[in-house]
Amino acid sequence: MEFKHRHLLGIEPLSRDDLHIILNLADSFKEISRRRIKKVPTLRGRTVVNLFMEPSTRTRVSFEIAQKRLSADSTNISVAASSVVKGETLLDTATNLEAMNPDIIVIRHKAAGSPHFLAREVNASIVNAGDGFHEHPTQALLDCLTIKDHKSDFEGLKVAIVGDIAHSRVAHSNIMALSKLGSEVRVAGPATMLQPGLDELGAKVFTDVEAAIEGVDVVMALRIQQERLGGDSLFANTREYARKYGLNRERIELIHPEGLVMHPGPINRGVEITPDVADGKRSVILEQVANGVAIRMAVLYLMAGGSPDDIANQK
Ligand code: CP
Repeated sequence: MEFKHRHLLGIEPLSRDDLHIILNLADSFKEISRRRIKKVPTLRGRTVVNLFMEPSTRTRVSFEIAQKRLSADSTNISVAASSVVKGETLLDTATNLEAMNPDIIVIRHKAAGSPHFLAREVNASIVNAGDGFHEHPTQALLDCLTIKDHKSDFEGLKVAIVGDIAHSRVAHSNIMALSKLGSEVRVAGPATMLQPGLDELGAKVFTDVEAAIEGVDVVMALRIQQERLGGDSLFANTREYARKYGLNRERIELIHPEGLVMHPGPINRGVEITPDVADGKRSVILEQVANGVAIRMAVLYLMAGGSPDDIANQK
């Protein structure tokens, strides 16, 4: 098994084999988080910079925990505490960080394509922790790992993603990842939040939520990405949105009896999902969060040049 990528910029450049390598590695790394002493020396002496230019709770904290569990030296930069507030550009920020010779830079940025830009400009390996509405590859990978924990095979699974598809990097990465793994991906939401070209990404497009979720093995609710709407109003009001597109107890009865309910977080309770469904017996939302650590450990290991075979041989 060989993983040939120096950067993790998105799901798009990855093959089905690459996805399986990351998921299998993450499965191996899960065990470390169950130990009393949750630390291995795998990335000792490696330096990671976490450059978060947009707010984050789950992604930022799980990257930091993953780095600590692998013994990497890491440092965190947020926009408010950086010289970006004094007018420094992303390129100048990155080249100045590069001068300190980090091995890996994890970047979250509102501009789609910013990780790709950094990958061309610096020597460090770049990991995309979410770039605008474009991609959020580690989120899709942790979502796939959560599905893998419950379902024997991706092949033939039906997965519905419901909500603001157009502005969701999570949706775009998941459509590509799950399609590559052999699942049928359906997307549903208001017509104003379903951009052209989704079928070319591999999704079946629905405007009727009930039709989209009927019999599915997994349903994933998405938050309305207000921060990317630029003040535009793409639906009447949140009450109307919840009534037409929200996941509630009645709608969840339509999915497969053993179907899973997922959400990448943060949740707007009562809008895209009701609290009883978010906290209900089909919900695996907190399992997704837990799997974020294992996925990010696997990605950091590969970005540091680790071989998948070395971890497999330790089992
Ligand atoms: N799912 C996700 O990216 O959450 P955060 O924005 O809190 O990192």
